[in-house]
Amino acid sequence: MKFPLLIKAVALALVFLAGIAAALAQTPPGAAPQAGQRGKDVMWMATADALAERMLDLAGVTDKDYVIDLGSGDGVLVIAAAKRGARALGIEYDQGLYELSKRRATEVGVAARTSFIKGDIFESDLSAASVITLYLTESVNLRLRPRLFALKPGTRIVSNSFQLGAWRADDSATAISFKALLAPFLESTKDHCFFFCTAYLWIVPANVEGRWRIVGGELVLRQSFQIVSGVVVMGGKSVPLHGRLRGQVISFTAGNTDYVGQVGDGRIDGTTVRNGVATPWNATLSAAAPNAS
Ligand SMILES: C[S@@+](CC[C@H](N)C(=O)[O-])C[C@H]1O[C@@H](n2cnc3c(N)ncnc32)[C@H](O)[C@@H]1O
Repeated sequence: MKFPLLIKAVALALVFLAGIAAALAQTPPGAAPQAGQRGKDVMWMATADALAERMLDLAGVTDKDYVIDLGSGDGVLVIAAAKRGARALGIEYDQGLYELSKRRATEVGVAARTSFIKGDIFESDLSAASVITLYLTESVNLRLRPRLFALKPGTRIVSNSFQLGAWRADDSATAISFKALLAPFLESTKDHCFFFCTAYLWIVPANVEGRWRIVGGELVLRQSFQIVSGVVVMGGKSVPLHGRLRGQVISFTAGNTDYVGQVGDGRIDGTTVRNGVATPWNATLSAAAPNAS
């Protein structure tokens, strides 16, 4: 068994034991929450501070962002985002955690940039987010996936440990630190993460599925999440293409030509590079297809 797998197994065992030990009831108002206590769809565990910073780094959170944490617990991700100057919203079902997170945001001086809703993540509007943060489970993430995939292109989604099934992550980062093994003896564990130490990033892709007119021919694009395939048809010849989307930026290769472009409303504008020579190119949508991802 590889060492990270061993850590994961130990972590899961600890979480399981914590879950048994914790009271099954919601956090009584004013009481300290217990790691592993039951939540509506997922139990409560806080993201380690070190991983919270990694998650926000991975998503590139700045003061321009509006971050929504789904199941915000005691507010660790909302508060960390607000400390970077972002506006941040936490949606949390548990009354006690909701109140605790509001108190904590006030105590650390970020109340003006934070808001909290006591509610259900499955009934909340996420459309204003530029960044979504998650620390749920893979099955809950999969239930959320259609709504996450429908967010505006370029929205970043960053998750503590749990992924989105066939929608593969665009990037990942880890905050694991072997110093974490000394965590019980360290004064501050802020810079150390012991378990649940990997962050995954997805960038909602534009929908490009369909047929596009290009000078002298046509592009036929198919799309599975951020992965693009299809053909460039020119002079009666079809050349297969393979590439990907990162938000509204599409890049693909067909034969010996590399294409990069910015997807706009029914248009793609960009550059091709062939034999080291860059040339502007554009495409106009002629027949859109719904993305079946
Ligand atoms: C693993 S904790 C993560 C807390 C916080 N996001 C963090 O990273 O520290 C999951 C949280 O989701 C909350 N939760 C579970 N199901 C929920 C739902 N349907 N609506 C809102 N919150 C929910 C739980 O009460 C818990 O606080």
